[in-house]
Amino acid sequence: MAKKNPENSNLRKKVLRMESFLDLDRFGKEDRVSDEEIAEYYKVNDFAYKKWLSKYGFMHFCISKTGNYSPEDAFYQPKTVAGFIKPGNKVLELGFGKGPNIFYLAEKFPDVEFCGVDLAPTNDKNKFPNVKLYQHNYSDLSGFADNTFDVVYGIETICCCNEKDKDTVFREVYRVLKPGGHFMVFDFASPEAFETYDPVAQKGLALFTRAGWGALITSVDQWEKHFTANGFICESITDLSKEVLPDLKRLLDTLGMRLMRSKVKAKMAFSVLPEKFVGNGIVAYIAYDCFKEGFATYKQWIYVK
Ligand SMILES: C[S@@+](CC[C@H](N)C(=O)[O-])C[C@H]1O[C@@H](n2cnc3c(N)ncnc32)[C@H](O)[C@@H]1O
Repeated sequence: MAKKNPENSNLRKKVLRMESFLDLDRFGKEDRVSDEEIAEYYKVNDFAYKKWLSKYGFMHFCISKTGNYSPEDAFYQPKTVAGFIKPGNKVLELGFGKGPNIFYLAEKFPDVEFCGVDLAPTNDKNKFPNVKLYQHNYSDLSGFADNTFDVVYGIETICCCNEKDKDTVFREVYRVLKPGGHFMVFDFASPEAFETYDPVAQKGLALFTRAGWGALITSVDQWEKHFTANGFICESITDLSKEVLPDLKRLLDTLGMRLMRSKVKAKMAFSVLPEKFVGNGIVAYIAYDCFKEGFATYKQWIYVK
């Protein structure tokens, strides 16, 4: 349940605590982050993602079905996508990051053609003849003809687009999907509209996405409107908010608390470390509480054209 007036919430306490010694206004004022800024954020955090997030190169949260974190839980999302791929299909990944989803699938399905689009430079570790990677903004898929793909998926990437850009992305995906094709999205949402939360909760929610150089968090309703308004039909919606908690707790303990435990050290880190690196640390500090206290949810949306 979302709490709109969270006097005793940890998210509230953390936002007020950070505000007392850090200039949080530096993060996320803009509604539209430029392509260059997003690419730069992932470049700056390359080391942090490798060290703290995933040794396999995943840049998404693990889905831990057992209640305990295991690095292999990061394979949940690509394994779920695999369940929808058939021999001879064409598949598109939006925002492939370092490529672990697409490479995992390409190895599993050698007779399937995979395309990936990301703002970051394409990965020269691509050894797969059935994978083509493009450095491009996926709100423009004009390089692909109508009705090209059987499956399109995006894992924690469309959250980088503001509402207007999300609409363009959904329209473009609808166009390039074959009739009957699947569009699968794994991403964050607020259970209720952002404006309905109290000002401190709003600050926390805004930091959760914008300190990670994403757009302002989108509500569940708004996400689902993007699907339906663009013609998609719902096949299933799965809530995975509980399943991300073990990973988020681990990130809180290893990175978030390390950065924020001492006010003096946090202030120093803010003054010497790159803003985009510190922003990532802020996300690690508050993400667990956002989900634990019901301000954010993690969804798996599967829709059909
Ligand atoms: C959190 S990472 C997730 C990467 C990957 N999906 C994974 O599961 O590991 C988000 C990725 O989306 C990419 N991205 C964000 N907005 C994009 C856009 N408009 N066009 C293309 N790529 C985008 C970023 O460059 C980044 O690599």
